[in-house]
Amino acid sequence: MEIITAVKGFKDILAPETDTWRHIETTALDVFRTFGFSEIRVPLVEKTELFRRGIGESTDIVEKEMYTFIDRGDESLTLRPEATASVIRAYLEHGLPTAESITKLFTIGPMFRRERPQKGRYRQFHQIDVEVLGPDAPQIDAELILMLMHFLGRLGCEQLSLQINSLGCAQCRPVFREAVVRYLSAGKDGLCPDCLRRLDTNPLRVFDCKVEQCGEVIANAPLLLGFLCPPCADHFTKLQACLNLFSVPFRVNPKMVRGLDYYTRTAFEVTTQSSGAQNAILGGGRYDHLVRDLGGPDVSGIGFAIGIERLAALMPEGKTYGAPGPRLFIAALGDRAVESGFTLCNRLRIQGIPVEIDYAGRSLKSQMKRADKMQSSFALIVGDREIEENSALLRNMHTGTQDKVALDDVDAIITILAR
Ligand code: HAM
Repeated sequence: MEIITAVKGFKDILAPETDTWRHIETTALDVFRTFGFSEIRVPLVEKTELFRRGIGESTDIVEKEMYTFIDRGDESLTLRPEATASVIRAYLEHGLPTAESITKLFTIGPMFRRERPQKGRYRQFHQIDVEVLGPDAPQIDAELILMLMHFLGRLGCEQLSLQINSLGCAQCRPVFREAVVRYLSAGKDGLCPDCLRRLDTNPLRVFDCKVEQCGEVIANAPLLLGFLCPPCADHFTKLQACLNLFSVPFRVNPKMVRGLDYYTRTAFEVTTQSSGAQNAILGGGRYDHLVRDLGGPDVSGIGFAIGIERLAALMPEGKTYGAPGPRLFIAALGDRAVESGFTLCNRLRIQGIPVEIDYAGRSLKSQMKRADKMQSSFALIVGDREIEENSALLRNMHTGTQDKVALDDVDAIITILAR
């Protein structure tokens, strides 16, 4: 009978990759806590309306990538394609906003988008998502980016490039949008069918198009930075000054627009210079109207999300994050030895010592080979004679030295194992 395989675009994560993921997650926890963040866990499923309103009707995610279904109660539900809208929903639902307060939250977990799977792009992927809700001071943007780059540095990720841009606000962006529409309409013939459609629905998305002919049209398009109103320009200048203060390297990329509709002012991405189709490992930005658009008070926000699959692929080569080999391997030979090995092994484990044993009745040679392969620090060879004498030899696998131990004296064994 054929085995049933996983669904296309959904993948299993096995060791040692799971060890790398765990290392990434615990490092995130450590760094984020230092910067005053607390963890929130939000459901995988939300009302579809949340994402339609939050992410924007004319984004790729809402238009064609969401896993939406009608629940038995005739309610339209969606597997979350990102976490920002959910975090804000929870923030509002639990009454977290208070006057003058700042709320710093992070969440880690799977997201779902029905994209075309390829290297670095999956239908279930995982994000480390960070959100700050509160005032809109540029120091908050800088602090968030500083924390992010510090986190990536702690992981030892190199050859990354931070790109920032300002997407303006409700005052200056419409003026820019009009200028772009005017410019693109004049060069309409050079645009792909998708971009022709975007011209009406979401013209700034044309900047993100990967089709070569669109790239040529875009090359000379007007840039938002030239249209920023004085408060937005000032915010962007201050952000850059703060980043310079901490010598955070960045490049201003005036063509970076991001794929979600909620952004205002600061937008940023970190890309890798290594080759491959998916080079953005994270993206984020400020969203000054999203909380209000989701029914909340006038609270600003900024955040980012890192793709764990893409980050894990960039971790330093040759490093492993798994647990070291066991402290002890018990090579048990014969039925009585297996029985006594079983007792000793699990008594030691309950004391917190990692121990392995082989119950398969293999030869001494093959058991010792296994102990070596597992990089066990010690080996205890127990046969029927040792059981009779209640003593066995405990061998240090690195130095070759041996100690005679009483099989029932667990404390003495622990003392030697601790050396
Ligand atoms: P996003 O740019 O859509 O932003 O996604 C952030 C990151 O998630 C990407 O840079 C990428 O690493 C990863 N990612 C996205 N789609 C996939 C996929 N199909 N397969 C693998 N990885 C993927 C957001 O999601 C925003 N919510 C970020 C944010 C938080 N903005 C403000 N706060």
